[in-house]
Amino acid sequence: MTPREASEKEAGAPPVLGIGMVGYAFMGAAHSQGWRTAGHVFDLPLRPALAAICGRDASSVEAAARKHGWAATETDWRALIARDDVQVVDICTPGDSHAEIAIAALEAGKHVLCEKPLANSVAEAEAMVRAAEAARERGQLAMVGFNYRRVPAIAYARTLIAEGRLGTLRHVRVTYLQDWLVDPAFPLTWRLKREHAGSGALGDLGAHIIDLAQFLTGEPLVGVSALAETFVKERPILSGASAGLSATGGGETGPVTVDDAALFTGRLASGALASFEATRMAAGRKNALHLEINGELGSLAFDLERLNELSFHDHTEPAVSSGFRRILVTESAHPYLEAWWPPGHALGYEHTFVHQARDLVEAVAAGKDPAPSFADGLQVQRVLAAVEDSAAKNAVYTPVPQQHA
Ligand SMILES: NC(=O)c1ccc[n+]([C@@H]2O[C@H](COP(=O)([O-])OP(=O)(O)OC[C@H]3O[C@@H](n4cnc5c(N)ncnc54)[C@H](O)[C@@H]3O)[C@@H](O)[C@H]2O)c1
Repeated sequence: MTPREASEKEAGAPPVLGIGMVGYAFMGAAHSQGWRTAGHVFDLPLRPALAAICGRDASSVEAAARKHGWAATETDWRALIARDDVQVVDICTPGDSHAEIAIAALEAGKHVLCEKPLANSVAEAEAMVRAAEAARERGQLAMVGFNYRRVPAIAYARTLIAEGRLGTLRHVRVTYLQDWLVDPAFPLTWRLKREHAGSGALGDLGAHIIDLAQFLTGEPLVGVSALAETFVKERPILSGASAGLSATGGGETGPVTVDDAALFTGRLASGALASFEATRMAAGRKNALHLEINGELGSLAFDLERLNELSFHDHTEPAVSSGFRRILVTESAHPYLEAWWPPGHALGYEHTFVHQARDLVEAVAAGKDPAPSFADGLQVQRVLAAVEDSAAKNAVYTPVPQQHA
């Protein structure tokens, strides 16, 4: 314990929970905000400390540490995991390294937060679930970073559905549309290579909407029928380092080995029908995640680009006066809102990472399983694999295995 920690302990400050993060670009910046802010907004039982950040290039990782407020740096994730001041390992790297880092961290006695999709294959995700279960016996927790569950309007939608306000569910309709691949000159970053990303729009955007559909309904998808396409098959090979979403290419080209877009329908366990579209080729759509759920008693609709709002139609009201109404999800009684601003003072994208940090810290302090678990991540991975199998057979209906890891 440092002299500062000792005096803080005496002053009644909560004990420190040391965070070590691997990767420091897009998600690294977002998670840094989450860890920095959570303890200053919510009254947490443990105080997240940004202990150390890891990247492969020493000068870049030092610059990232200064920018985002991390106390120390490492250039090898194994060294990060071995640090005594790190109790939680936060994995913000591409999918090809999730399994190796997560399993090693759990075996080293650390709690783990891993970005989505959990892995690049079902086999990797199964191994991660087995490691998480073994670690759970020793008191370590594992969580996957499906941050959209932590949009207050989404969390509130889950409450309304769980309370039965929509009755028996009939339809789930979700689209997640972006446009950063429309330009054929966009270079061949890791997100366009199967060996690094696992899949394309499917694993990147589709994973989010599969998780949301299963989270909101409380039911697994049991089968899918899918089409996928790679519209631009060759792209300029990247010159220099890339942040993944914005970069410049050189003169030579190489093959794109993942999908640009995936469309699929599915059945939920209850028999409700679901439809999904994930693409990075929808010109004009930036981060357009639209969701609608219809049940026998009503409907809910949500648009991520207006994330403080939830549309609700109560079909039990008289037809003459019923219709969709806009709920502004900023009341202190709404999920996560008790610690933020007065009603109507909107939240944004970055707050989902603050909520994610809060939820994991509270789970660690209470020794309770956090959600979404690695098992939830595995279920999403199985749906992703079933979508790929179905798309390879031109939309043949493909069951999603439900068995345990
Ligand atoms: N939750 C979300 O909304 C969301 C959004 C974007 C990305 N993601 C997920 O986050 C993960 C990272 O994506 P990103 O957009 O931050 O990518 P990025 O390209 O912006 O950053 C990746 C980082 O990982 C580092 N890295 C790669 N391999 C490494 C290794 N072996 N050791 C140490 N560092 C390594 C890179 O240097 C870089 O800092 C992916 O799994 C992605 O699917 C989630």
